[in-house]
Amino acid sequence: MIKIFLTIVVLLISSNANEVNIYTHRHYPSDEVLFKTFTEKTGIKVNVVQANADQIMKRLEEEGKYTPADLLLTVDVGRLYYAKEKDLLQPIESKFLEEVIPFNLRDKEGHWFGVTKRARVLVYNIDSVDPRSLSTYEALADKKYKGSILTQSSSSIYNQSLLASIIAHKGEKEAKAWAKAVRSNFARRPTGSDRDQMRALAAGMAKVAIVNTYYVGQLINSKSFSDKAVAEMIGIYFPDQGEDERGTHINISGIGVTKHAKNRENAIAFIEFLCSQEAQKVFTSVNYEYPVNKNVAPSRLLQSWGSFKEDSIELYKIGQNNAKAVKIFNEVGWY
Ligand SMILES: [Fe+2]
Repeated sequence: MIKIFLTIVVLLISSNANEVNIYTHRHYPSDEVLFKTFTEKTGIKVNVVQANADQIMKRLEEEGKYTPADLLLTVDVGRLYYAKEKDLLQPIESKFLEEVIPFNLRDKEGHWFGVTKRARVLVYNIDSVDPRSLSTYEALADKKYKGSILTQSSSSIYNQSLLASIIAHKGEKEAKAWAKAVRSNFARRPTGSDRDQMRALAAGMAKVAIVNTYYVGQLINSKSFSDKAVAEMIGIYFPDQGEDERGTHINISGIGVTKHAKNRENAIAFIEFLCSQEAQKVFTSVNYEYPVNKNVAPSRLLQSWGSFKEDSIELYKIGQNNAKAVKIFNEVGWY
């Protein structure tokens, strides 16, 4: 009897609670603006738990069906793929999302959807590099780059996904040879963030760095005088643009409804809001990310970097090749 009573109380609370609970790894001002706007528009309260990506995933796994989380918001398809593999997400159907998000940027079964897009590009020191000398990711394996390349460690999921894309396109053998050669061209043992690579690049430590585009936007708009100066020292180059080449590697930050979401409808409404024209404009202007919504143009700053051909590989294939990429990094000593 008591059990039935408690169940009814829980049901009443959950059905009355007009809220949505999000576990997020993102920590950008754009997101806070959007959470607030969503509540203003819908009356649905947004509760946010922020932590690093691994902590969030672990927490979701440990909480199982007791999790309060309705949504998982994270960066890089590698993590979304992992969450689906671990059975942490559930499929949803949304005509709107299928219409506005290109199919390569979302899970076929509706477990996750891209909400923003980022390109992993080459940045170069404008004093020492003629951009016409740059071409592809593959070209970074050339001996002429000895001591000239900066990038993060292999624990960066951004690098894991870049290598996973090379595995998907060219096979493991070629990908391994590439990783080995690029590693031997490093200017230093990988350390720090994408922004740190650009700071070192501007200081003359190397010629080229591999970074995500929105970090360039962050430096350009930084309150720090020295970071603004860093931004002035670097140029952006979109690799693999030739006719026979696949295009620049892109990735997403994305979202999925958790398997045990108690506020499923609110969660779907929230995803649809993040992909609306209004929210996409905020992502691109406040956080310098590319919109996933086909009908929204990148911000003026992003447009000033030029349009480019994107690698249109279905992103789940990058998640699929993540473990192989990590293995190759370990084998070739890209720490
Ligand atoms: Fe990032």
